[in-house]
Amino acid sequence: MAAPKTQFVCSGCGAVSGKWSGRCEACGEWNTLVEESPNTGVATGPGKVQRKGRIIPLEPLDGDTKDSPRIISKVAELDRVTGGGFVPGSALLLGGDPGIGKSTLLMQASAALARAGNNVVYVSGEEAVAQVRLRAQRLGVEKSPVQLVAETNVENIVTTLQATFKGDKKRPDLVVLDSIQTLWSDAVESAPGTVSQVRASAQAMIRYAKQSGACIVLVGHVTKEGQIAGPRVVEHMVDAVLYFEGENNHHFRILRAVKNRFGPTDEIGVFEMSDTGLKQVNNPSELFLGERHKAAPGAAVFAGLEGRRPVLVEIQALVAESSLGTPRRAVVGWESARMSMILAVLEARCGVRLGGHDVYLNVAGGYRISEPAADLAVAAALVSSLANKPLPDNCVYFGEVSLSGHLRPVSQASARLKEAGKLGFEQATFAKTSELAKTPGMRLNTLESLSDLVVDLVTPGELPSDKNDD
Ligand code: TYD
Ligand code: MG
Repeated sequence: MAAPKTQFVCSGCGAVSGKWSGRCEACGEWNTLVEESPNTGVATGPGKVQRKGRIIPLEPLDGDTKDSPRIISKVAELDRVTGGGFVPGSALLLGGDPGIGKSTLLMQASAALARAGNNVVYVSGEEAVAQVRLRAQRLGVEKSPVQLVAETNVENIVTTLQATFKGDKKRPDLVVLDSIQTLWSDAVESAPGTVSQVRASAQAMIRYAKQSGACIVLVGHVTKEGQIAGPRVVEHMVDAVLYFEGENNHHFRILRAVKNRFGPTDEIGVFEMSDTGLKQVNNPSELFLGERHKAAPGAAVFAGLEGRRPVLVEIQALVAESSLGTPRRAVVGWESARMSMILAVLEARCGVRLGGHDVYLNVAGGYRISEPAADLAVAAALVSSLANKPLPDNCVYFGEVSLSGHLRPVSQASARLKEAGKLGFEQATFAKTSELAKTPGMRLNTLESLSDLVVDLVTPGELPSDKNDD
């Protein structure tokens, strides 16, 4: 009999290839291919008896189906992102960088659920029971009836769950597995953390969830190096994928749904990491605008959207004459290519000379903007800094800038304006749009092109002319 052929699996995207190469052909990542024994695939070949399938009734598309019941965690920001609570019999993946607060979030949710009378089991594969207890004490939830176990073998976990929950305690309501990278199954020979182990362990746990009706939450660390299998191989197996994001040296965290079979994917939850765990942030804008210094040149408030939620953030620019041949450009919290584009449009279409200046751009609070709608606010901050003239301090900005210098309207202008009004802003400058609803108490200034903004903000004498120009 021929020796079984080994295969190579990308730990980033899960693509399978017959031979090793330095770069995954599917996702283009380097050094992510790892060898895997083929016994994790479907067993075929000689000696395998072909079983005759049974007949399954076919169903019409239109029929009565009940809404999935929900287990509400009472952590409102989490429930918002899951679409109204955990769904029994489903599997959810919570991904995020190590140390971002995944275990903290799940411990807080587990404790709240257990206190409300649900059966909650917390399986820790990374930390010993004592460590998990310490965290619970720090969070002030040690009295909550969460059941703990430190175990990494999937078969042991499933057997324990099946033996513990029988009779009238038919199933656990929630099982947290922290983390998927530490789990291993007897069925697979490779080491924990490899693609085949992660996949087999996740499969076993998901099967348990479907059979028992428990909701399982898998924790997955995101790694860029590819040593440990990225949770991406699990993403398509689970019903919902949430990502927990944030900067390690800033205290706010954003929980985002990237896939959800039972709810929307454009909802976010905002938390703040404190000494005693994660606190929910009901009004994210207040968090990002909290330490704002009024009337500083170069600061503009952007009325942004994060999923469906309006978020106001401050964009800070510093434009200073450069002593270097090639001026320095640095951006934190936004795309640097996008800033170069705004600089080019300001130069070419509005006559604002920036070629001899260093330009620094920062989004306050460690927040990261991904919307092009921030273009106008960035431009306003840049012009304000260059002219050394503060912007009106009760004004918000939003709008996309096109290469021709025209402004394009952005979605949900009304929601952005409403949020700005709620936080005491009295003026808004934005790209002309047709969808606008009435916004009482705000002065609206709609613009058609970026040069309108420059004309509004500064008189020509206030802008320095470029010395390198002559
Ligand atoms: P943790 O939940 O262990 O992160 P993850 O499971 O995603 O790896 O949280 C780790 C960080 O959070 C750690 O650096 C300490 C900090 N932390 C607090 O600031 N306050 C707290 O109450 C807790 C429990 C943790
Ligand atoms: Mg953890």
